[in-house]
Amino acid sequence: MSYNSEFRRSIDQRDDFWREQAEQIDWIEPPKTIWQPLDNGHGEWFPDGVMNTSDVALDANIRAGRGDQTALIYDSPVTNSQQTFTYNELRDEVARVAGALRDQNVGKGNRVIIYMPMIPQAAIAMLACARLGAIHSVVFGGFASHELAVRIDDAKPKALITASCGIEISRVIEYKPLVDKAIEEANHKPDTCVVYQRPQATATLQEGRDVEWNDMVANAQPADPVPVKSTDPLYILYTSGTTGKPKGVVRDNGGHAVALKYSMKLVYDADPGDVFWAASDVGWVVGHSYIVYAPLFNGCTTILYEGKPVKTPDSGAFWRVVQDHKVNMLFTAPTAFRAVRKEDPEADQLAKYDVSSLKRIFLAGERLDPPTYEWLKEHTGLPVLDHWWQTETGWAICCNPIGIEPMDTKPGSATVPSPGFNVQVVDPDGHQVAAGEQGQVAVKLPLPPSCLMTVWGDDERFQNSYLKTIPGFYTSGDGGFVDDDGYVFIMGRTDDVINVAGHRLSTGEMEEVVASHPAIAECCVVGAQDELKGQIPIGLVLMKDGATIDQDELEEELVEMVRDKIGAIACFRRAIVVERLPKTRSGKILRRVIRQIANGEEYNVPSTIDDPAILDEISSKFSQ
Ligand code: COA
Ligand code: AMP
Repeated sequence: MSYNSEFRRSIDQRDDFWREQAEQIDWIEPPKTIWQPLDNGHGEWFPDGVMNTSDVALDANIRAGRGDQTALIYDSPVTNSQQTFTYNELRDEVARVAGALRDQNVGKGNRVIIYMPMIPQAAIAMLACARLGAIHSVVFGGFASHELAVRIDDAKPKALITASCGIEISRVIEYKPLVDKAIEEANHKPDTCVVYQRPQATATLQEGRDVEWNDMVANAQPADPVPVKSTDPLYILYTSGTTGKPKGVVRDNGGHAVALKYSMKLVYDADPGDVFWAASDVGWVVGHSYIVYAPLFNGCTTILYEGKPVKTPDSGAFWRVVQDHKVNMLFTAPTAFRAVRKEDPEADQLAKYDVSSLKRIFLAGERLDPPTYEWLKEHTGLPVLDHWWQTETGWAICCNPIGIEPMDTKPGSATVPSPGFNVQVVDPDGHQVAAGEQGQVAVKLPLPPSCLMTVWGDDERFQNSYLKTIPGFYTSGDGGFVDDDGYVFIMGRTDDVINVAGHRLSTGEMEEVVASHPAIAECCVVGAQDELKGQIPIGLVLMKDGATIDQDELEEELVEMVRDKIGAIACFRRAIVVERLPKTRSGKILRRVIRQIANGEEYNVPSTIDDPAILDEISSKFSQ
């Protein structure tokens, strides 16, 4: 089967194509209807199918004879420990935790927030929720209390699951005080807070509300998988949009399992038994899809790594994990290898380890810059494969379809659209632009399985953000172009979302925090290029008349406020005081031009600007 014929079939004979893919997973009641359109321009996948995601991930592998195969390896350089679970062991543990959560009155449709570090209990909690038909919402451990509070109020969880601490390179971060503060701030209060106590910190429990993980599980009876409809939500994952309020991307059960299973062959060419390592975090979509769900749907061994690419203990960390666990496929964000390359430019660490098990390296989460691509290719001699996707889709929109027909790579390109994604580069009216010309990268509806069903609690926002901008298309928010050979190049966001070390953040959200400082009259935050992290935020701030605070002190306070409200991961470290902000005559801040100035790029003075002299003032501030 060639890529072209598979792709055409996925579009022209959509239902037949996805019916065949649906046959690859275990259903309780297989679907008769494959795709059903909805009034909102979107549609539902496998609406009459019944299944359970934890059954597909775990029990189905045991039925297929893989019970004694390793399902999950926990590797933690920060605690100097490792642990493995076979499929039998993981299923039993998940069933017990599901039973324990059921005893806490968690059931089908209830939401459960999981705020955890990279420990096996995070994945077990996710799978336990899936087993009960409860909807999990994992919040990345690097987010501050306020961010957690916002998500608690939006998802209204019945329970929250956390651990006593996370471990960063040089410090232990106690989670429980952050959780307590978030619950205090939120209007909604979860009934139960489950705490996994780690030896590095002991959390104080609140009488009546908090329960220790081990106590909860001690006498619990294992729970069987609860049948759910394909279209019942599996999880909500919050992601940054252009406003301060994050969007709760809602993922279904059936479409998700079908598409992710398909992606394991198409994108990664992974077979059951292969060792698959996504070096990310369960708090991000990469962690959901390729640490927890897809490798298990596919009968692989997955690795859950609690560490960094560098400093845990050194830049050989990734190669050591590959050697120790005979990893076959490694997937991470380019920023991780930029960090490795910075510390070990000649890849001396690589030579110290036996990485012969490794077949290929996959990168996503941000633009793969050609120097990082070339460095990896040269030093490993392995295929280095870029692929483009988003929290909203849950799997690659564009990839090198190696499971069907490997294609030549082109640095800077995520290669070609995955079957099911009718990708087109369009102008604002939805007209396809010529090859080589940049435009908005959009996907002609319908979207394939696993893509977001809606925004949790706000279908209008879903329609306005994604479906109404260009009628008939899903708007990705990314700009780019397709070349003469049909290769897709993603050049960056066209909205106010930035990507800091592979973490998706909203500049709008940072602006809200900065603007709340009593000395600030107006502000603007843009993403400037950064050699290591891809982008970092920089604030331009205008002080109120009469504000007397010293500029350095103001910067310090703003940096602390963003750390406190959003989290250290925002890497907001610079706030420049300016006299005026460049605006159009209608009052819109010219962010694009500010971004270009911050990056030292050439810029055209927009004809709509009210006072062009401001741009020189800003340029001189940046160069100070
Ligand atoms: N919990 C609490 N704090 C966290 C955290 C977590 N889970 N993750 C990061 N932080 C904190 C860090 O401690 C750091 O705090 P500091 O400013 O006090 O030092 C801050 O957030 C920034 O962290 P990070 O972005 O990890 O930067 P770093 O300089 O410590 O490390 C890299 C740089 C490139 C090594 C690191 O960003 C990395 O491993 N990136 C890969 C990203 C990735 O996998 N992304 C997932 C998408 S696929
Ligand atoms: P997230 O939802 O956190 O996965 O972030 C999605 C965003 O990351 C996309 O909209 C892109 O801007 C960016 N992104 C992800 N993968 C790539 C890639 N391979 N090339 C360029 N940008 C990417």
